[in-house]
Amino acid sequence: MENILQEIKDKLIANGQDPENYLRGLKHNRAINYWEYVMVDTLLTLQNPRTDFKDETIFIVYHQITELVLKLIRHELEQLCLSNMEPALFIEKLYRMVRYTDLLSSSFSIMNQGMSYEDYNQFRLSLSPASGFQSAQFRFIELMCTDIDLLIPAYLRNRVTPETSLEEKFSMLYWQEAGFNRETNKKNKTLSDFELKYLPLFIQSANQMKSCNLNTRYKIMLENLDQDKQNDLKNALRAFDKKYNVDWPMVHLETARTYLKSKGETKTATGGSHWEKYLHPAFQRRIYFPDLWSETELENWGVEK
Ligand code: HEM
Repeated sequence: MENILQEIKDKLIANGQDPENYLRGLKHNRAINYWEYVMVDTLLTLQNPRTDFKDETIFIVYHQITELVLKLIRHELEQLCLSNMEPALFIEKLYRMVRYTDLLSSSFSIMNQGMSYEDYNQFRLSLSPASGFQSAQFRFIELMCTDIDLLIPAYLRNRVTPETSLEEKFSMLYWQEAGFNRETNKKNKTLSDFELKYLPLFIQSANQMKSCNLNTRYKIMLENLDQDKQNDLKNALRAFDKKYNVDWPMVHLETARTYLKSKGETKTATGGSHWEKYLHPAFQRRIYFPDLWSETELENWGVEK
């Protein structure tokens, strides 16, 4: 007991704090409880359905669950990109990201099988032009994972020169395909609202990640590893790339098909994209670590068997 008290005292003095005042303050502290620590009451007030359809609550809560899981992925990515760590921990953190992505894929049945088709197709009409497309965390994650040039579709990549600004690169990204009509040069409201809110932050993040995104970092790390460890690192990155950029997008696309195309007509998405084409991983070709895949694997990226 005395030891720990001495250690606390030493720590406080080292921090420039007065130990006696600190301990007097501690005497008045309320005991911690679950509901305040986890902020349960606040969390449960964050759902505001726009209609009286009961299943709209499921839709909102599940989107919030996804955003929290994306936050966990970003939390690991921030450490992977911005701090130095041993390869073993680096790999462990990549597998955490794999597990979080598995959770997203396996739980998507809450959407695909868990809402009334009729109700969903009623309440979603009141949501346009909002779309999951406008998830900023989804975009931050891709900027932390890979080089921005790799998010530009192959047919536009030859327009990129060393002088191309980040603003110009953003106008070429694969996700512009969801809302930018290259013939009329017009963006739909889903895309323009999204960019108005987040583009400056995306540009800031792309700048910060230029030399420390995961695709850059793992290559530097590989140089100092023996063959076995190199393989461990590559396998972890490949697992994440495949699960995040093929498996999860496929369950999402299947769900869109369930609600927007299963009864003989193709419905318009709230975000207005040509969704069946756009959401397909074989069309998007979002591949964070292309050097880790063979020619054949790249050719067959996201192709449905
Ligand atoms: C019934 C369930 C869902 C349907 C029918 C659906 C449908 C769609 C559609 C059609 C798009 C294309 C953009 C558009 O035109 O709106 C889209 C994009 C997107 N949705 Fe969903 N979605 C569902 C659930 C979710 C959930 C739960 C999330 C979790 C946040 C989500 C996240 C996204 C993201 C991140 C995109 C952009 C994907 C990309 O750019 O590759 N969606 N969704």
